[in-house]
Amino acid sequence: MNSYSLYGQSALVTGADSGIGKGVALALAQAGAKLLINYAHNQAAADQTVSEIKTAGGQAFAYQADVSHEAQVQAMFAELYKQYDTIDILVNNAGLQKDSKFVDMTLDQWQTVININLTGQFLCSREAAKEFVRRGVVERVSRAAGKIICMSSVHEVIPWGGHVNYAASKGGIMMLMKSMAQELAPHKIRVVSIGPGAIQTPINHSAWETPDALNKLLTLVPYNRIGQPEDIGKLAAWLASDEADYITGTTIFMDGGMTLYPGFSDNG
Ligand code: BGC
Repeated sequence: MNSYSLYGQSALVTGADSGIGKGVALALAQAGAKLLINYAHNQAAADQTVSEIKTAGGQAFAYQADVSHEAQVQAMFAELYKQYDTIDILVNNAGLQKDSKFVDMTLDQWQTVININLTGQFLCSREAAKEFVRRGVVERVSRAAGKIICMSSVHEVIPWGGHVNYAASKGGIMMLMKSMAQELAPHKIRVVSIGPGAIQTPINHSAWETPDALNKLLTLVPYNRIGQPEDIGKLAAWLASDEADYITGTTIFMDGGMTLYPGFSDNG
């Protein structure tokens, strides 16, 4: 049982049909929030997230939108307001990888990752922030006028060869988040990032699907286990709650120590 509640708050989670997004959506719903489950392609998976939330007594609906498409994002927010009147929590989670050696990386691989991972967070944050500013604080709901949680990565600080588009998108999210936090704080809007390390989801299945791959991955994780979507979900729900009311403009890493650069533990 949580010591806090998100009861009465409306939350939009992008890319909530699988992986970390799904874990976050389930945790927010468990804390009492009503959810919009955004997805890009996999309607069956999004419906499954909705049905898990409803079975547990929560409220949710699925909505398809490409977060990098301005008109689709605006239509999604319009539907959210139709169903729940307003928004209290935005979780910018949708993201993907299009990995390639740098010299072979196509403009399309670069652009797709920047569009979804970074521009998508801009477009959704802008819509949410407009509504937070318009509505302001509703005391009985939350001490903040709104909360934006950006899903970043350890790769906002750890360079990642073979993934420069992805690492650049996450580095961009860091300054997007901090600059939004600075500008929006006077409106009582909190903006924070979560920096997950290796979490067991479809995006990195090749890194954990065989025992060999997993052992290799765990050499990067001092705490010696792979993370689960539930780990990130619990953090996101807490960050969205008034328990975290004084946190804005920072990234909370949740990575089993990956950002401790374990390669240096017996070297350097
Ligand atoms: C990436 C994963 C990777 C993890 C740790 C995440 O941001 O999406 O593929 O396993 O970082 O390197």
